[in-house]
Amino acid sequence: MTMTDPQQTSSVETAASSTTTAKIFNFPLNAWYVAAWDYELTNKGLLARTVCGKPLALWRTSDGRPVALADACWHRLAPLSKGRILPGDEVQCPYHGLQFNSAGRCTKMPAQQTINPSAAVPSYPAVERHRYVWVWLGDPDLADPDTIPDMHQMASDEWAGDGKTIHAKCNYQLILDNLMDLTHEEFVHSSSIGQEELSEAEFNTTHDENSVTVTRWMRDIDPPPFWLKNIRDRFPGYEGKVDRWQIVRFQAPSTICIDVGVAKAGTGAPEGDRSQGVNGYVMNTITPETDRTSHYFWAFMRNYRLESQTITTQLREGVHGVFGEDEEMLMAQQQAIDANPEHEFYSLNIDMGGMWVRRILERMMQAEGRDTRA
Ligand code: FES
Ligand SMILES: [Fe+2]
Repeated sequence: MTMTDPQQTSSVETAASSTTTAKIFNFPLNAWYVAAWDYELTNKGLLARTVCGKPLALWRTSDGRPVALADACWHRLAPLSKGRILPGDEVQCPYHGLQFNSAGRCTKMPAQQTINPSAAVPSYPAVERHRYVWVWLGDPDLADPDTIPDMHQMASDEWAGDGKTIHAKCNYQLILDNLMDLTHEEFVHSSSIGQEELSEAEFNTTHDENSVTVTRWMRDIDPPPFWLKNIRDRFPGYEGKVDRWQIVRFQAPSTICIDVGVAKAGTGAPEGDRSQGVNGYVMNTITPETDRTSHYFWAFMRNYRLESQTITTQLREGVHGVFGEDEEMLMAQQQAIDANPEHEFYSLNIDMGGMWVRRILERMMQAEGRDTRA
């Protein structure tokens, strides 16, 4: 097994040999996180969702703009998400009827003419992109939408697919670890995408300031059941060996897009000709809810048979089943971590990608002057 690291070869050994205490890690706040799917936000009612420990009331203005307000009324902290949206894009508190505009400012108080100038609830930057609504809970002056991770396949005419949300009962970093090292497929997903060549194949890890990429090619192998079905969707009756790839790309703080696929063996896929294969992108973005729970948003996009809703649904449900296996493992892992808070994680070669992810997250938290552990 080889690992190369063009940018920082010398520090790779340091990363591989270091340990990480099993204590739960904190999260950066100066970052965009997905709060919801696009379809979840409406102008009809408010959505309650906690992001990075902060309860939010999410909704849309009548012209479609997403809004994220703190889900606690200025007056007595009643949750605004239980209130209603009034004409004029104002939210009415369900308890004593205070009204707030989309900037969080109070515009009406019952039974009094003057409005206390401090009457407001925090409003957070919210942007819709790539079929998701992203929110920024840190310093609003730093909230640049251009830094939202690239997930363009989610809303491109050249890709088709769909996804779901998992409410995962684990810290978000355990999900990042899970996705950065796909050798677990051999053991956790043996009936669908797992095969022993995964842990036998060489892989390559690279990184820069904000991203980490792990590339693995498995050449001339039998396709596992999930990929045999997919390649037969494009090439009916397909038989024979394939070249399989997994290119895992992390974008800080918590988005991992995985370029996956198989092509007829020996037709040049590793060199860039994927015309004899099928290609998918597993689009994952994970939002800390608390230090022990996460909103895991995912979709599976493909660039073949775009017209087939049947394939879209089969893929979504197939991947949903696969991710259910991860969800169970991650919850069990979190429970074991909670029972062994002092245990130190020793990292293996396979943990290389996850190690660099942690490095980047630690650097982001240090830059915010925040403790890197909860
Ligand atoms: S708690 Fe909202 S108006 Fe009183
Ligand atoms: Fe998995």
